[in-house]
Amino acid sequence: MISLFLVLAIGTCLTNSFVPEKEKDAKYWRDQAQQTLKNALRLQKLNTNVAKNVIIFLGDGMGVSTVTAARILKGQLQHNPGEETSLEMDKFPYVALSKTYNTNAQVPDSAGTATAFLCGVKTNEGTIGVSAATQRSQCSTAKGNEVTSILHWAKDAGKSVGIVTTTRVNHATPSAAYAHSAEREWYSDNEMSPEALRQGCKDIAYQLMHNIKDIEVIMGGGRKYMFPKNRTDVEYEMDEKSRGTRLDGLNLIDTWKSFKPKHKHSHYVWNRTELLTLDPHTVDYLLGLFEPGDLQYELNRNNVTDPSLSEMVEVAVKILSKNPKGFFLLVEGGRIDHGHHESKAKLALHETVEMDRAIEKAGAMTSLEDTLTIVTADHSHVFTFGGYTPRGNSIFGLAPMVSDTDNKPFTAILYGNGPGYKVIGGERENIYKVDYAHSNYQAQAAVPLRYETHGGEDVAVFAKGPMAHLLHGVHEQNYIAHVMGYAACVGANQDHCASASSAGGPSPGPLLLLLTLLPLGTLF
Ligand SMILES: *[C@@H]1O[C@H](CO)[C@@H](O)[C@H](O)[C@H]1NC(C)=O
Ligand SMILES: *[C@@H]1O[C@H](CO)[C@@H](O)[C@H](O)[C@H]1NC(C)=O
Ligand SMILES: *[C@@H]1O[C@H](CO)[C@@H](O)[C@H](O)[C@H]1NC(C)=O
Ligand SMILES: [Zn+2]
Repeated sequence: MISLFLVLAIGTCLTNSFVPEKEKDAKYWRDQAQQTLKNALRLQKLNTNVAKNVIIFLGDGMGVSTVTAARILKGQLQHNPGEETSLEMDKFPYVALSKTYNTNAQVPDSAGTATAFLCGVKTNEGTIGVSAATQRSQCSTAKGNEVTSILHWAKDAGKSVGIVTTTRVNHATPSAAYAHSAEREWYSDNEMSPEALRQGCKDIAYQLMHNIKDIEVIMGGGRKYMFPKNRTDVEYEMDEKSRGTRLDGLNLIDTWKSFKPKHKHSHYVWNRTELLTLDPHTVDYLLGLFEPGDLQYELNRNNVTDPSLSEMVEVAVKILSKNPKGFFLLVEGGRIDHGHHESKAKLALHETVEMDRAIEKAGAMTSLEDTLTIVTADHSHVFTFGGYTPRGNSIFGLAPMVSDTDNKPFTAILYGNGPGYKVIGGERENIYKVDYAHSNYQAQAAVPLRYETHGGEDVAVFAKGPMAHLLHGVHEQNYIAHVMGYAACVGANQDHCASASSAGGPSPGPLLLLLTLLPLGTLF
């Protein structure tokens, strides 16, 4: 009874400790809401332009709780309480929910989901660019079941295309843009079964260089999958794990170069210095592979050898926007997911904030008139934050009370399962003296697992630009690819564009519809 009283007293005391001065005035909230109302009323005039450009930002594992926590972190990095901050994605006018399940999985993986939002077809977990008729890891079941992506459709329509990721460029999300594979882990032939090799399936790095030979921009990690087995890495000469992996002896960087027209300028770079000294105006094709595997976490990034996600996006948009027919760009904040799997929430949230910077960068370089931008996630994580924390509480901080059951403090951030589960002397670890704000701190979990799991709830889809209003409710995830195709007049949805101005003027579709309906309306 006494301890319960103390808990409540402490909680109440801290909760009342801080309210920003301007927020005490009712007028502040009324003005703020009225301004939002004005902005919303303007949305009644729909943007039905043709999307010359399409950019999709994919936060791997960026569930809604991650978005909220990253927003607070962004504000706190600017020395504000945090909750009132707006992420760039928060400013997008249209938001929908995406149902992320795979055809055979309630809680999905990144391969099945990437196939959904890039190729427009839901499929089985672990498979890439193939329909659900394919069984995972069964090479022979992929044949004839290939599905193509929005990147492919955009390329066919004469647009420039690009892939930028913080993971390996042959990792699950980016690979659905160009590959067809019964197994997401077939990074190079070294990871494939003898049976799959015998049946003629190709590894994903090989497919990156051979399937669509003229992808203008490819940036991320994954160098080792491009080089023959045991070839020393250019950056980590002493590290065996960074060496080349390929059994077929191919040097896929050479392959990449050999497919580029001689009169075009193609550049392969492996470090940030080289990337940032390139003049994008003179670059036609860019391949940037900055690590042997995934890129480092943004918080641990070596700023001499590795570019940030926003730096890569800036270069990519400069190169791609030279095409008068426009471009398609896939940007993946791919290591939000990895931070969560390790239960290192600080790493995951800094990855999210960096992706938001990249969204800001791309927004400043493109126009709402001709560029559809979508921000979404493939799936969520069992990441949560709560505990009645007071306004402005560090997002990595403690709840304002101890548990009324084991009398120990707890952090606001927790995981449903994962490696942070720790029992010491038969009890939950007391984190009182633990540095829970450290970037490698693993937040506590209810169930021990070496690798925290994905979450199964819907994720958000934020959209702005032409046809963004088509993302407006609770959608199946594969619908996203269809919206991108429709907006850009590529793939199966080109018919509605036939009458639209090829110069990117407004489509007459809705206007015609309105004119047809008006007389009817007046009659009845
Ligand atoms: C690669 O190197 C490792 C050890 O450095 C060795 O065991 C292995 O046989 C080598 N493989 C090839 C294909 O040369
Ligand atoms: C970056 O790559 C270029 C080309 O290989 C090399 O000359 C340069 O030394 C590298 N810079 C760093 C900082 O590693
Ligand atoms: C790079 O990192 C070093 C060490 O953390 C820091 O002192 C420097 O300001 C950074 N430079 C840039 C351009 O971010
Ligand atoms: Zn994952």
